Amino acid sequence: MQLIDGKKISQQLKEEIAAQVETMIAAGRRRPHLAAVLVGHDGGSETYVANKVKACEACGFTSTLIRREADVTEDELLSIVHSLNNDPEVDGFIVQLPLPKHISEQKVIEAIDYRKDVDGFHPINVGRQSIGLPCFHSATPAGILELLARYEIPTKGKHCVVLGRSNIVGKPVATLMMQKGYPGNATVTVCHSATPNIKEICRSADIIIAALGQPGFVTADMVKDGATIIDVGTTRVPDASKKSGFRLCGDVDFENVAPKCAYITPVPGGVGPMTIASLMKNTLLAADGNLFND
Ligand code: GUN
Repeated sequence: MQLIDGKKISQQLKEEIAAQVETMIAAGRRRPHLAAVLVGHDGGSETYVANKVKACEACGFTSTLIRREADVTEDELLSIVHSLNNDPEVDGFIVQLPLPKHISEQKVIEAIDYRKDVDGFHPINVGRQSIGLPCFHSATPAGILELLARYEIPTKGKHCVVLGRSNIVGKPVATLMMQKGYPGNATVTVCHSATPNIKEICRSADIIIAALGQPGFVTADMVKDGATIIDVGTTRVPDASKKSGFRLCGDVDFENVAPKCAYITPVPGGVGPMTIASLMKNTLLAADGNLFND
């Protein structure tokens, strides 16, 4: 069994990005600039956004954090989006999800200029991805593919089972795994809450991508010997022995599944750091400005 070290690969990726930024600066360009909008004080969102700001520093980017309280109106949030769309100093931006219930996430996502949508959530990016055109790929799926590529894990003709059908992970990673090329060319099955025989389907998988947010869902009896397991789960479970009072729990029963695998990602230190590194890569692409010009 080989552990897929997302922390190490994300570090490499950020160093590669930082080197490209220095080349841009030497050529007289300004630093890439990522803005993040954070509404309210959700613990998970606070951590993600703080890590994004830290990653910007590591890559040599400029970053701006715009905060609003949870009672911000939809109109005010939309006007922030419009001003970021029109700010020539900002290359890309994200609005951290989830948003409070009184705000339509879809409306906010659709208000973002797709050329600055470094999360890859706008329907233009989602649509372009699904037909294989250049676009911003959403960060978690892109990070997963980067890990498969850097560990040279074969995907062509393999059975890839995706657990979960979210717009952020399940659907886009399924699209990418079936696209022509590498990583890709896999035979993809997407399982979700209405799939009756998930265990049986998983047992035939060469690659399982678990993204359903149910701690320990994938058990050893669901995994074939030699499979590759990508664990996207990051549920916070109370843990009094931790300073923070919680620990992150993946969707895979790591202890019992790992001995059966060829490759497996840990939680934390697997997919999580790759999501942020992929966002940095998208921001560099946005600053480069050529993604939609081909
Ligand atoms: N919430 C959970 N994951 C993400 C992400 O990748 N981007 C944004 N904007 N919000 C999230």
